[in-house]
Amino acid sequence: MARTSGNKVVVIGIGAVGISYAFALLNQGGCDELAVIDLNEKRASAEVRDLRHGILYAPTPTRVYQGSYADCADADIVCICAGAAQQPGETRLDLIDNNLKVFHSIVGEVMKTGFDGIFLIATNPVDVLSYATWQFSGLPKERVIGSGTILDTARLCNCLGKAFDVAPSSIDAHMIGEHGDSVIAAWSTANIAGMPLKEALQSMPDGEARMRKIHADVRDAAYAIIEGKGATYYGIAMGLARITQAVLHNQHVVLTVSALLEGQYGEQDVYIGVPAVISRTGITRIIEKPLDADEAAQFARSADILRGYQQKVAA
Ligand code: 2OP
Repeated sequence: MARTSGNKVVVIGIGAVGISYAFALLNQGGCDELAVIDLNEKRASAEVRDLRHGILYAPTPTRVYQGSYADCADADIVCICAGAAQQPGETRLDLIDNNLKVFHSIVGEVMKTGFDGIFLIATNPVDVLSYATWQFSGLPKERVIGSGTILDTARLCNCLGKAFDVAPSSIDAHMIGEHGDSVIAAWSTANIAGMPLKEALQSMPDGEARMRKIHADVRDAAYAIIEGKGATYYGIAMGLARITQAVLHNQHVVLTVSALLEGQYGEQDVYIGVPAVISRTGITRIIEKPLDADEAAQFARSADILRGYQQKVAA
């Protein structure tokens, strides 16, 4: 069982995403201990010292230190950000062979310590690597959470917030499916306080073209950012920190994460982005959005793509 008190987080891999996550967590407070692990020990040591110098100005005095795998033994959350990141022109799925090897080794090392907490997975392709972590670790599915479409959903809410001049947090809309090229905008249920956004957009001049553009902008956001600055990290770091707070503080909030489907949405045996309730015990429940026929067909296609790549886990 996941522990029900204490809050210790271990982050493995402190490239741009891992260290931005650590920075976001320290700034938000509420995490007692944060251990940072990286193969590059000199880099990890320097990052830890740099982070520590900001603790005076953080809301709570998180104890941050350079850790080793042994620190996973009593961790509540182990967040894996290690592995190769997308280069310009690469898809997330192109990273699978390399990152699967990295995960085989990391998850094995973590489990040797007796770790019995929650894995939070950020490395791409995140859906397939969440499935791999579930398989390699033997932990219950509820305790392997992928960041999934949490970032795509944030991107969508940003675009819609701008279009309707409301805060993104007042938009109820979700991106679902693969965190990748087959991601789906669940337009049919998107709303602001119950006002359906699909109809509102369609009633605007060029409404259909506008919806297609929003979807394409969200789907391709990472490509554009990678082209401009080499990598994306702040957005995903904030999303990971949001999931972490939901777990540590038993919030029971709905977030779009990568979770194992066992019949929901008519799918079996696939980790994929869906809205789910996140609490101290991990993924408490998957929320089944009522999709229209077109969205359901897109979702089935996305699930098929991911299941195809999942076969590499057993190979
Ligand atoms: C992102 O969507 C690259 O998956 C990363 O920003």
